[in-house]
Amino acid sequence: MSDAAVQAGSNGVVSCAGLYKTYHGLDVAVLNGIDLTVGAGEQIAIVGSSGSGKSTLLHLLGGLDAPTAGEVRILNQDLSRLNETKKGYLRNRSLGFVYQFHHLLAEFTALENVALPLLIRRMARDQAFKRAAAILTEVGLQHRLEHMPGELSGGERQRAALARALVSEPQCILADEPTGNLDRHTAHAVFDLLLGLNQDQQRSLVVVTHDMELAKKMQRQYQLVDGKLLPL
Ligand SMILES: Nc1ncnc2c1ncn2[C@@H]1O[C@H](COP(=O)(O)OP(=O)(O)O)[C@@H](O)[C@H]1O
Ligand SMILES: [Mg+2]
Repeated sequence: MSDAAVQAGSNGVVSCAGLYKTYHGLDVAVLNGIDLTVGAGEQIAIVGSSGSGKSTLLHLLGGLDAPTAGEVRILNQDLSRLNETKKGYLRNRSLGFVYQFHHLLAEFTALENVALPLLIRRMARDQAFKRAAAILTEVGLQHRLEHMPGELSGGERQRAALARALVSEPQCILADEPTGNLDRHTAHAVFDLLLGLNQDQQRSLVVVTHDMELAKKMQRQYQLVDGKLLPL
C-alpha cells in the first residue's frame, strides 16, 4: 500500500458525510445530503448542469468554505475541529487546486509561478526552482520556463497551472472545470496529461466537468442533481 493509502485509512484521502449547504437568500439547499469518499489514487468525475452546486461541493471538500451541516475530512481529520491555521496547513500540504482560469500571476514567469507555492513554504530558492523546472518539464513546458503567462497559449497556461498544483506533491487534486476554457483538442490533451501524471503518482483526483466524454476517462462518475450525488 502507498504512504497516502496508509495515511488515508478507510476514510479516504478526502471524504464528506451528510453534507448540506444553503446560501443566504437561496431558499433551496444547493447540496442536500452528500456522502463521498475519495480513496488514495482514485479518480472521480462530477458532472452536472450549470448552477447544480459542483463548485460549491469542491470548495467544501477543499476546506475553502464551511458546510451548513455535515462533515468534511481531509486525511481523516475533521475540518470543523481545526482552527484556520491548522486547516490551511492541512490544505496546503495535502491538496492541489486547478481552476477553469489559470490564475497565474501575470508579472511572474512560468517558472516563478510554479516555484511560488514552494517558496511560500520556505523551501530554499535553488531547490524550489529546480523542482519547478522538473515539473514544468513533465507537463511539456521545458522550453517555456522564462515566458510570462501572457506569452503562453491557453493550453500552455493551463499546463503551467497543473504544474503549480502538482509541485507540492499533494495527495489529492481538486479540479473545477480545468479544461473548460480550452478548445476540444487542447482540452483532451491537457485532461490526458492530468490523468497520466496522477496515475503515475497514485494521487487522487476529483474533477468537475460538464463534458461527459472527459468524465468517462475517469474511474467513477457522479452526477449532481437536486443537491444529491448520483452514481452514473
Ligand atoms: N457565495 C454564494 N452566495 C450565494 N449563492 C451562491 C454562492 N455561490 C454559489 N451560489 C449559488 O449556488 C448555486 C450553485 O452554484 P455553483 O456551486 O457555483 O454551481 P456550479 O459550479 O455547478 O455551476 C447557484 O445557484 C449559485 O448561484
Ligand atoms: Mg462551477
